[in-house]
Amino acid sequence: MKKRVLSLMRPTGPLHLGHMAGALNNFVKLQNDEDYECFYGIADWHALTSNYADSANTGEYCYAALLDWLSVGLDPEKSPLFIQSHIPQHAELALALGMITPLGWLYRNPTYKEQLENIRDKDLGTYGFLGYPVLMAADILLYKASLVPVGEDQSAHLELSREIVRRFNNFFGENLLVEPQPLFTKTPKVPGIDGRKMSKSYGNALQISESAESVWGKLRTMMTDPARMRKTDPGTPEKCPVWDLHKVFNPDEAEKAEIAQGCRSAGIGCIECKKKLNAHLQEMLEPVRERRAKYEGNKKLLDDILADGARQAGAVARETMATLYPAMGLLMNPAR
Ligand code: TRP
Ligand code: SF4
Repeated sequence: MKKRVLSLMRPTGPLHLGHMAGALNNFVKLQNDEDYECFYGIADWHALTSNYADSANTGEYCYAALLDWLSVGLDPEKSPLFIQSHIPQHAELALALGMITPLGWLYRNPTYKEQLENIRDKDLGTYGFLGYPVLMAADILLYKASLVPVGEDQSAHLELSREIVRRFNNFFGENLLVEPQPLFTKTPKVPGIDGRKMSKSYGNALQISESAESVWGKLRTMMTDPARMRKTDPGTPEKCPVWDLHKVFNPDEAEKAEIAQGCRSAGIGCIECKKKLNAHLQEMLEPVRERRAKYEGNKKLLDDILADGARQAGAVARETMATLYPAMGLLMNPAR
């Protein structure tokens, strides 16, 4: 029996190399491992929990995420790729789980408290936002997934899912729902082009879909160690954001040692150093661009992939709900 893996990502617009080096490469690795059966979804309802006042781009962002996923190597032949709202059982199960989830669990959720305090430009005092982890639990439990690859920031949510399972099973029947285990992705800290963490909101990202020219354009104009005014000034790699990127994206240890030494001794210029980094990034992104070209602009193909994903995910979802209705004492619609 293959272990079932499931994860969703909120559609937030074009994804960047931080997403690729963290979550997405891991999704691909799990997909290509014979021991696992993977389902990957785009959490458009979750996007609305905080962006309901400005949600017009959600659909467009779903396509952008799907394109990025396909271009990094997620394969719809191996893993169903679906949009959360296309499978109504996500919303249906979230409602059912909401019946038994104590409000205290949700109010005490550290992510909830933290975001309420820190996000000032949105009104997050809504039922939907409070219920974010209930919907996330529904995403997971609907598929009886045993492993959920997520970042460490999701650990409180995963724990809530597990508590919801125990309480639900207590009321309605042992072994009805399965307790999921988190599979924490070791995410390398990916710096942006300004040395801070790569993030859409900092405007310092290199996109997965970035063209070769644009990648080089961004690298070329990057700040370096300010001590290197001239090529003859020695520098300190540890003070340079270009070096931070080498550390993550340059796999050639010997070359990296040479660069660090060359920087300290003023034996290598910053442009040459950036060109070497550029070569590694382009080599990594070339197959990504090739895959992307097969899908880009082909809406019909993307829609077929989503329809197929929804069909496969929907079959599992319907089966789960069919066991839950009688357990909860509800009559299943005979016509369904
Ligand atoms: N909350 C997750 C995040 O922000 C996204 C998510 C929604 C998710 N549903 C999920 C992740 C189910 C794993 C499983 O990253
Ligand atoms: Fe940065 Fe490279 Fe220039 Fe050193 S040589 S300062 S690491 S860009």
